[in-house]
Amino acid sequence: MGLAVAESLSRSGWRVSIVDLNENDGQAAAQKVGGIFTKANVTVYEELAHAFGKTWKEYGRIDFVFANAGIVERASFYAKQEETADGLPPSPNMLASRVMFDGAIATVYLGLHFLRKNSPAGGSIIILASSAGIYPAPNGPLYTASKHGMVGLTRALASRLWAENIHISCICPGAVATGLMPAEAFQQMNQDTFTPLEKIASVVQSLLEREEVTSGAAVEVVGQKHYLRWRPEFCDETMEKCWDSFGGTSAIRDGGLTTNWKQ
Ligand SMILES: NC(=O)c1ccc[n+]([C@@H]2O[C@H](COP(=O)([O-])OP(=O)(O)OC[C@H]3O[C@@H](n4cnc5c(N)ncnc54)[C@H](O)[C@@H]3O)[C@@H](O)[C@H]2O)c1
Repeated sequence: MGLAVAESLSRSGWRVSIVDLNENDGQAAAQKVGGIFTKANVTVYEELAHAFGKTWKEYGRIDFVFANAGIVERASFYAKQEETADGLPPSPNMLASRVMFDGAIATVYLGLHFLRKNSPAGGSIIILASSAGIYPAPNGPLYTASKHGMVGLTRALASRLWAENIHISCICPGAVATGLMPAEAFQQMNQDTFTPLEKIASVVQSLLEREEVTSGAAVEVVGQKHYLRWRPEFCDETMEKCWDSFGGTSAIRDGGLTTNWKQ
């Protein structure tokens, strides 16, 4: 999906910087879009920061950051573990959340830094979350937790960043046939539900064009349709008051940022 978005942006005149752990695919992608490539692991802050720094040096500004890196879970969270000699289970395999939670947060953090350096300051961040950021996937609990985290991160950051002319949203697709899983795994799924890569790229383009009314949204994408999902309604007035005393939260919106944050 990262490549589809890069291609679409490059066709619209954007200069693109590709960052990926996979050097061969990353180089080929950069060549395809006439951009630059930096090999970096999003779980290694210094590598990711270097990639941003290199992009800034090359282009002199960064207007849009697409936090896209992802993997499927590498180990079952449910697997019963053998105890080690001290009677404790071994440390869990948390690569999925290191990539899609910690890595995505680091990407957003660095994005914020560099968008602020622009003159005038500002720009856009889009996180590629997942519909597993809205609905729970029992076969991917860490994937689900990470993607729910991205929806929360988007909703939490949007109103404060708005004041700095920085817009953030996240995309929550259903199934998209990519390299994320082996082709056979995708073939076993209901083919009527798939979202084409072009649709993901066109959602990104339209979010960038309408960021004043989409900042803070989690955008569900399924088939050829997409839906803007805002913060859920409060369960009752007491909870709403509770959140007022926390300092407020961004309001549910229907076009245009309204916020009740007390700055
Ligand atoms: N394919 C789907 O059905 C689907 C649905 C919803 C959300 N997503 C999300 O979309 C995003 C893009 O995935 P995709 O489906 O295009 O899969 P993909 O495997 O084609 O692309 C993921 C890219 O992330 C890179 N990557 C993985 N770990 C990395 C790391 N530690 N550091 C740097 N790069 C790393 C991979 O090398 C790869 O190029 C992921 O975050 C995924 O969770 C995918």
